[in-house]
Amino acid sequence: MADRNQGVAAVLSSLKGKDFLSSGDLSALQISALLELAMQLKNAERRIDLGNRVLGLIFTKASTRTRVSFQVAMARLGGQTVDLNPQVTQLGRGEPLKDTARVLSRFCDVLAVRTFEQKELIDYAHWASIPVLNALTDIEHPCQALADFLTVKETFGEVEGKTLCYIGDGNNVAHSLMICGSLLGVNIRVASPKGFEPLSEMMNKALELSQAKAKIEIFNNPLEAIRGAEAVYTDVWASMGQEEEQSVRAKAFEGFCLDEELFSKADSNAIVLHCLPAHRGEEISSGLFESVSSRIFDQAENRLHVQQALLAAVLGGL
Ligand code: CP
Ligand code: NVA
Repeated sequence: MADRNQGVAAVLSSLKGKDFLSSGDLSALQISALLELAMQLKNAERRIDLGNRVLGLIFTKASTRTRVSFQVAMARLGGQTVDLNPQVTQLGRGEPLKDTARVLSRFCDVLAVRTFEQKELIDYAHWASIPVLNALTDIEHPCQALADFLTVKETFGEVEGKTLCYIGDGNNVAHSLMICGSLLGVNIRVASPKGFEPLSEMMNKALELSQAKAKIEIFNNPLEAIRGAEAVYTDVWASMGQEEEQSVRAKAFEGFCLDEELFSKADSNAIVLHCLPAHRGEEISSGLFESVSSRIFDQAENRLHVQQALLAAVLGGL
């Protein structure tokens, strides 16, 4: 055990002071070490006390899981968080991001940012002198993907060689799954209606990172994509910021509801995943959401453990 801990610590020491803006910022080895540490923290085999470190939370969009899991993770590490929502800071009155990032770097030890444009997150990372973590942008949700693959690992004991099928919008969650999955050697199949597929640059990035270890495929037919998959995942059809497209999207996504009939074509031991919040009766049937195959609430819990591991690594507490 002591040797294993030293191995994990040696790999994760390379993350000290680093930003986490995209799933592609981590190597396969670093992701595996983070998942191992997260599992140890979850099983109470490890306790890490970082002393009184402070995480600043800049959230431009709503959040339950990400915000609370970061707050609890920091508390468990012996630190604390400060809420820096644009509505309550001078950001909301137009103070430039580059000034805000430099000031907050003098007070905080790490920042987690949830915003719309990936470019804004990159600007925070550029101007801040402390690590900046992606708490969701329109393009990626990399902390979510870490929790998702921890859930797959817990269920099956390993992730490499497994097949995860994502059914729905080719959005931020799909992008991070593709990139993180490709690094871990997980075959990823995404089924989206025409016009709602993942961005081609994200597909290319995933293919490049997979080094042919994993198959990354895009389908327009969910029945073709789901066949034999061991993990089946879905997310809302209209993400935050797309609310006014809801009715157009509901029409475009007809036939893409993950229900019992579609799920019956997956592997007989397959699990159901959803990042939440969910719209029952739209992207997922109520029955499947509540079924014995669902690991959705383990997946939500795992946000806490992977983010605790990530914070310990970037703050150099191992
Ligand atoms: N899955 C997720 O990120 O949930 P929140 O929007 O509640 O943070
Ligand atoms: N794709 C969703 C994920 C929410 C956690 C959104 O961006 O709103």
